[in-house]
Formats: sequence, C-alpha cells, structure tokens
Amino acid sequence: MKGPTAAGHGVPLCRLDELADPGARGFEVAIGDSRHDIIVVRHSGAVFGYINSCPHQGTPLETFPDRFLTRDGSQLLCTTHGARFQLGDGVCVAGPCKGRALARVSLSVIAAHVYFGALGAA
Ligand code: FES
Repeated sequence: MKGPTAAGHGVPLCRLDELADPGARGFEVAIGDSRHDIIVVRHSGAVFGYINSCPHQGTPLETFPDRFLTRDGSQLLCTTHGARFQLGDGVCVAGPCKGRALARVSLSVIAAHVYFGALGAA
C-alpha cells in the first residue's frame, strides 16, 4: 500500500478479511518524512506487526510481494539466508540471527479494519 492517510485510529492498512489466517502482507507507511516497510501477520485470529527488516543484515524478508511465510504457514521466513521467525512475537528460532527478533510495530483492529499505530510494541 502506498501513501496511506493518517486517520483517527491510526493509519488504515486493510480490512481484516483481506488477511488470510495464517497469512501476511507487506505495507509501506509514512510517518512524517519517514517511510517504513512493515509486515502485518494474521495468526490464530490475532494480528501482529513487524518492521520488514531482518535482524541479521537488515534486508527485507521477502523476495516476492507478500510472500513472507514458510510453505506450511507456520513461520516468517527471510529469503536472504533462511532465518525463520515465530509469527506471534517475531523471535528468530532458526538461522543466522537465532534468538534475535523482528522489531514490533503497534497495530489495532477496529470494526474489522487493521490500523498501524506506531513504531514499537503495543
Ligand atoms: S538477512 Fe535475513 S537471514 Fe540473513
């Protein structure tokens, strides 16, 4: 998503039903003059947000748009060197940055719509 507009609940990203469960999508959000690529993950009915930057070398996780999950949908995958991250907390459980974590972003779900709130955990 390019250039979302800030609203009362935060920056609107998508409808909840536009996210598969499990599933993930990438968005670009603007805060002031800064732009941030984020990943929105839906897992077991909950929604989680992360900065799209691998803690290993800082690259985006995906090679193809919105292809963030492992084949079985159980983890996030960095395609650069194969790091795998838990969906619910972004902790790396396998790969060169094992034990580190994706940076969280604050999201909210209001009236079945997902909003970006802020950088950092909720
Ligand atoms: S940059 Fe992600 S595993 Fe190396």
